[in-house]
Amino acid sequence: MKILVTGGAGYIGSHTCVELLLNNFEVVVVDDLSNSSEESLNRVREITGKKIDFYPVNLLDRAKLNGIFQDHDIDAVIHFAGFKAVGESVDMPLAYYTNNLTGTLTLLDVMRNHKTRHFVFSSSATVYGDPASLPITENFPLSVTNPYGRTKLMIEEILQDLYVSDDSWNIALLRYFNPVGAHESGKIGEDPRGIPNNLVPYIAQVAVGRRPFLNVFGDDYDTVDGTGVRDFIHVSDLARGHIKALEKLFSGPGVVIYNLGTGTGTSVLELVKGFEAACGKEIPFCVVPRRAGDIAACYADAALAEKELGWKAVKSVADMCRDTWRWQQNNPHGYDDTANLP
Ligand code: WQD
Repeated sequence: MKILVTGGAGYIGSHTCVELLLNNFEVVVVDDLSNSSEESLNRVREITGKKIDFYPVNLLDRAKLNGIFQDHDIDAVIHFAGFKAVGESVDMPLAYYTNNLTGTLTLLDVMRNHKTRHFVFSSSATVYGDPASLPITENFPLSVTNPYGRTKLMIEEILQDLYVSDDSWNIALLRYFNPVGAHESGKIGEDPRGIPNNLVPYIAQVAVGRRPFLNVFGDDYDTVDGTGVRDFIHVSDLARGHIKALEKLFSGPGVVIYNLGTGTGTSVLELVKGFEAACGKEIPFCVVPRRAGDIAACYADAALAEKELGWKAVKSVADMCRDTWRWQQNNPHGYDDTANLP
């Protein structure tokens, strides 16, 4: 089976490529490298000892995308490629709608022309907005408050309309909670460009000395210690969930929707303490006002994925912190450390 992975050089994409290759899928990666490094794919090859066909192509380039489908008999697509920074999407909505929506529409049209109709979409718990209760199940109301989240919800709706028009499609909408951690080898991990938006890569950069301290965005929420609570899931658990979703699609289910989370909430300060235990250093922090758009708490009911996919997250927050720290220690400046070496 040959799988096309869009955004496969990225954080979740590269970890999913590892699991695909270890499960004897053939992998073709399309990635425009706008927010990733080709070095990640070299590392994936090192980890697995397997080959990857890589094309540095943007999904808006229909001609090149069509050529890839002509050169490869693609059985399914896992679609990660897309811009994903909430704050940036508020400042640049047209860039987000063009890249995320038009890119996806181009991909789906090329797939249809080549009769490839198995599709796994990288969606996000952000489509649930601020939930009225917890944990969150897949039938909770959907609401979004920023252009990034709106692109995720709109693509989910586009995919459901596509299926209504042609039920030969099999589509999995995977709603990620908070992916963190790194492959146990320490060879691949999260490598955000510029100042990290997300908590764990920021903490890791404090631990490795790239940042002086962490800003904790508010400690006045109605939570265990006043700081935000999230469902942090190890990226390798998340990657394994994609293999299970692919296997489900080949059984012909139509459109299926799953939360990929652990079902457990962890606060910002609990995570800071976990990271201090993993790295053996104090993580200095300063409590500042809440970040606009943040919600107090969010964690999954992951029972449906366990029941229908036979998948469950198994790695702990301690595993996530330990594996993140190993990656950051081995690569203090991410992939740039070696990519620029002679
Ligand atoms: C987690 C908690 C912050 C940074 C976002 C996107 C979501 C998905 C995952 C793409 C919150 C606090 C954070 C910092 C902090 N991305 N925090 N200081 O906001 O839950 O989700 O990333 O799919 O769509 O919305 O993740 O890691 O940014 O924040 O105190 O420097 O950490 O307030 O409580 P979030 P996050």
